[in-house]
Amino acid sequence: MWVSRRAAAVPGSVFSLMDAAKSRARARGLEVIDLSIGSSDLNPPDAVLEALRDATRDPGTYRYPLFSHTAPLREAAAAYLGRRFGVTVDAASEVLPLIGAQEGLAHLLLAVTDPGDAVLLPDPCYPPYLGAVAVAGAQAVPLPLLPERGFLPDLDAVPEGMRPRVLLLNYPNNPTSAVADVAFFHRAAAWCRARGVLLVHDHPYAELTFGEYRAPSALEAGLDGVIELHSLSKTHHMGGFRVGFAVGDAGVIAALARVKGAVDFHPYLGIQRAAALALGLPDAVGRVGAAAFEARRDALVPALRELGWEVQTPQASMYAWARVPGLTDSVAFAVRAAEETGVAVSPGRAFGERGEGFVRFALVQPPEVLREAARRLAGVAVAGREAQPR
Ligand SMILES: Cc1ncc(COP(=O)(O)O)c(C=O)c1O
Repeated sequence: MWVSRRAAAVPGSVFSLMDAAKSRARARGLEVIDLSIGSSDLNPPDAVLEALRDATRDPGTYRYPLFSHTAPLREAAAAYLGRRFGVTVDAASEVLPLIGAQEGLAHLLLAVTDPGDAVLLPDPCYPPYLGAVAVAGAQAVPLPLLPERGFLPDLDAVPEGMRPRVLLLNYPNNPTSAVADVAFFHRAAAWCRARGVLLVHDHPYAELTFGEYRAPSALEAGLDGVIELHSLSKTHHMGGFRVGFAVGDAGVIAALARVKGAVDFHPYLGIQRAAALALGLPDAVGRVGAAAFEARRDALVPALRELGWEVQTPQASMYAWARVPGLTDSVAFAVRAAEETGVAVSPGRAFGERGEGFVRFALVQPPEVLREAARRLAGVAVAGREAQPR
């Protein structure tokens, strides 16, 4: 069967290897602790579920959701950005509902790049970024995220002559859990404006922050030449609802709406109502979920350090990113760990070359389960069996 170059260029995922390893562990009678997927295990707030339930009984929600029907969600998004980040946006021209941030990014790249254009993206990164770049026929240019730079990219290292179309950033970051301050976004936006590059900030972990820390928005550096992707998946535990929004530069939002108009409709109106309600909830509601992830962080990070693994204390996100001394093949290690102990983690290599030597833990289990996972991992050899003396 003929497959397009575009389809063939989408990188495969190591997660199928992990699935097979988890199945083998189950076949051996092990109870699997799956920390490999960043899907929140918490429930959306009750009021959000009620709003969706009510909407399903309203025949007014059964039709195609036209752009004009998205006004309540766009207005709720604008109000949230004003309240939370002090950013003023026009709900009519600067906000667009998405079927999740992942959908939004893929279509955004179709709207702002031409085949062969360079897209600067972090290494390591959320793997679908590479798929989105491939689908657009663009060229991924990895920017190393190194621990010694706080996992922030060095924009000065980008060759002067390079003319990228897009700089893609994500803080709080998946997989490293690093955060960026508002000064960083000002520098990144200035760098982009000086070169005519679109700054795209993927911001699904905006509210999964710990202690006093609050994540800034890239839009605090201005909307001109900046787009931010928001999602309800992590902040309100609504990953299955598939809803988020793009916000920023009106010209880019219009181009994204044009591309999306050719391929999809807006989310189901009931989901839009639930999302609008979620965005208007008092911040204290979101803090409850964030506090649960913080307690998990506090359980896992010290347990990993006891294993001798190097891990910074995350201030945000739902991940711990651990460097395992001596690890050179994180994929083989993760497969071995899943098979031998039933603990499934993500190999750092799955997120890019600079992820090698690391593993990512998604904090999607209660604290005692995370401690148990660390205990089980203590018995897994870091180097492969093939490297052990016979
Ligand atoms: C950095 C990043 N962007 C986007 C997504 C997906 O967001 P959504 O569910 O809104 O498509 C994820 C999910 O893990 C993510 O980690």
